[in-house]
Amino acid sequence: MNDILITNGRVIDPSSGRDELCDLAIKDGFIAGATRKPARAKEVIDAAGKIVCPGLIDLHVHCREPGHEEEETIATASASAIAGGFSTILAMPNTHPPQDDETTVLYVLHQAARAGGANVLPVGCLTKKREGNELAEMGMMYKAGAVAFSDDGDGVASTSVMQRALQYASMIGAPILQHCQDPDLFTGVMNSGAVAVRLGLGGIAASGEEIMLRRDLELVARTSARYHVMHVSSAGSVELIRAAKRDGLRVTAEATAHHLLLTDAACTSFDPNYKMNPPLRRASDVDALRAGVADGTIDCLASDHAPHSNEEKDLEFAVAPFGIISLECALGLYVKALVETKLMDWPGLIARMTCGPAAVIRRPIGRISPGDIADVTIIDPKKRWTVNVGKFASKSRNCPYDGWRLKGRAVVTIVGGNVRFRL
Ligand code: DOR
Repeated sequence: MNDILITNGRVIDPSSGRDELCDLAIKDGFIAGATRKPARAKEVIDAAGKIVCPGLIDLHVHCREPGHEEEETIATASASAIAGGFSTILAMPNTHPPQDDETTVLYVLHQAARAGGANVLPVGCLTKKREGNELAEMGMMYKAGAVAFSDDGDGVASTSVMQRALQYASMIGAPILQHCQDPDLFTGVMNSGAVAVRLGLGGIAASGEEIMLRRDLELVARTSARYHVMHVSSAGSVELIRAAKRDGLRVTAEATAHHLLLTDAACTSFDPNYKMNPPLRRASDVDALRAGVADGTIDCLASDHAPHSNEEKDLEFAVAPFGIISLECALGLYVKALVETKLMDWPGLIARMTCGPAAVIRRPIGRISPGDIADVTIIDPKKRWTVNVGKFASKSRNCPYDGWRLKGRAVVTIVGGNVRFRL
């Protein structure tokens, strides 16, 4: 007998092209089949009117543990993830100490297993202590379970270090996730432009992102590395990635909800919840990013969930830290930016949140054919709800979307055949 039978849902699995009304059966932690024939199960979940899809994947989450457990822990990040419909998240390595060796990678995996929520896959630092000077022990970390490498929070400034990182990563078969930002051009706290001038705040020009991206693409063309651009923020970057893909480079990219929905005009409020790195840019950048996600130039949607405590974040704009949280409302935000605007349909959106990110890390997840791991999310696409940051499972509250009315929400998250979240 099956363990779980999800009945009457619209099963969307972009990796196989399935989009049909049927039942989905789960047995022993794996997908047993998608069927219209009556079947028996220990638990039946009625999904009439709902979408049944592979568990959502977020490639970009800051879990803050070890080191800043007052902001988030692996357990609370994992709880936040499943409440947002994510069965898998990647844990960024800018922790304290940084995740730059085997021990910290194993620690993350251990804490994630104890938490029993989403799968939390560690990202190892590219360089020792994230200092940008010397490569970290990527091979050892990869063997221990790291799925990718990044110095996120900072770009790798040294061209020779980046070249070596790409060569090494291509040897072990792991992707590099780059935060494109030339440190020499990181001279402010918000987007460089008229709004920054009016507010008297230092600007961060899009050229700082684009120059590093352009350099990296030159390096990628000379290696066989897999290179992933994190939180793309500018129209110029979208165009560079589009051209690189046209040239056949192994490049993938992600966009965040905030870069798809907000502009630097929001900073006029001086609310630090509009301060993030890379910063919110112009309306024309938002349009280019949306078009890039819709046409597949940008393969994935990612939250860059970056928790900060009230003590830290509740400072004046210029000195508050960069970053906001959004795991628990990300799906509804993407719907607002991409589906409600009619730029994408549900299968397209789900592809950017399942098989798109799974392909970046080359894991057998983000798909629900028979025999696949039973990571499944059930979404109510019609559910209208109001974001209530006070109720988040995350430990932090630095979220600009409090009170936003959204449509579309995950109602069940199944991880490895176990129901881990139910609304
Ligand atoms: O806004 C951001 N916050 N961007 C980053 O790259 C790092 C992150 C953080 O760790 O807070």
